[in-house]
Amino acid sequence: MDPTPTTERRLAWVERVLAAPPNVHANAPDGTAWMTEESCYRYMARQVEEGSRTLETGVGVSTVLFAAWECDHLAVFPYAHEATPVENYCDEHGISRRSLSFDLRPSEIALPTLAGATPFDLVFIDGCHGFPSPIIDWFYGAGLLRKGGVVVFDDINLPQVGWLLRTFIESDQRWETVTRTSKWGAFRRLSEGPLGEEWFDQPFFPPAPTKVIRRTRDLVPLSIKRPLRRFVNT
Ligand SMILES: C[S@@+](CC[C@H](N)C(=O)[O-])C[C@H]1O[C@@H](n2cnc3c(N)ncnc32)[C@H](O)[C@@H]1O
Repeated sequence: MDPTPTTERRLAWVERVLAAPPNVHANAPDGTAWMTEESCYRYMARQVEEGSRTLETGVGVSTVLFAAWECDHLAVFPYAHEATPVENYCDEHGISRRSLSFDLRPSEIALPTLAGATPFDLVFIDGCHGFPSPIIDWFYGAGLLRKGGVVVFDDINLPQVGWLLRTFIESDQRWETVTRTSKWGAFRRLSEGPLGEEWFDQPFFPPAPTKVIRRTRDLVPLSIKRPLRRFVNT
């Protein structure tokens, strides 16, 4: 392979790793790893370069790719047994682990301790998908993005992830929607620093539904609401 870290070389890694993914998640549909869409990996391949500072919650194909792309990469996930296959895969495929590090703690414990770290260029949120984990990952992880850096969310079709986008990020001028599919989305940060702030700094926040809307909603039986919600969130 061309030793020059070009975009083409990074895209070639995407193809190569997806053709034979690491066996990280035994419970994944194909028994190898839970993955996002190829277009997401290709987007990130174009977004980073050698030495980019990258952070992800969770581990898998994405981790191998960040290592292959020679990013200065930190993966935060709690299960040591998921680290070994990634390390083995890198060693077997000539991918250096020099700039790859793991923090083997749940992201909700690990990320707050990173406060004050050198800002990241890209943060990939794909760890625990139960509410409010994606929000915690965004608050602490994307709070460490440099101005102009990008946060990428996988599984935005899940309400636990999509809710944050719909109620906040997409209305906040300090975030620019870069690209999205029904499964993943990328958002550029136009501000910098920690994300904590007061309610009066968020005039764009959508108002809570009025009493009339809430009461009308309550009249719709759950048996209709649930399938409707699923439909809206796909
Ligand atoms: C969907 S998989 C990640 C897939 C990976 N990004 C890829 O492209 O192959 C979700 C990962 O999140 C990890 N995880 C679960 N709970 C977590 C938590 N509290 N903090 C960080 N990671 C967590 C799981 O162990 C799993 O490795």
